[in-house]
Amino acid sequence: MTHDPVTPIMIKFTMPPLEKIGWTDDQVYLSLENRMKCDEGLCCHCNVGPTLVCKDGPVFTRSQVRQLPVEY
Ligand code: FES
Repeated sequence: MTHDPVTPIMIKFTMPPLEKIGWTDDQVYLSLENRMKCDEGLCCHCNVGPTLVCKDGPVFTRSQVRQLPVEY
């Protein structure tokens, strides 16, 4: 299992079987909306590095999530 600091734990355990049947990181979508508070781009509670989840997402491919800086 590879290091992926922002992927929720359930996804970490779901990915190995999906990878085994050939799914790629571009085929897996994750929602990071649990980080959001105002949903208006005002509070910066949802930032992961320079990315505002409420403005740039909240849904990202797993490939995109892997590009985000370590936040947890
Ligand atoms: S939820 Fe407040 S800035 Fe994104």
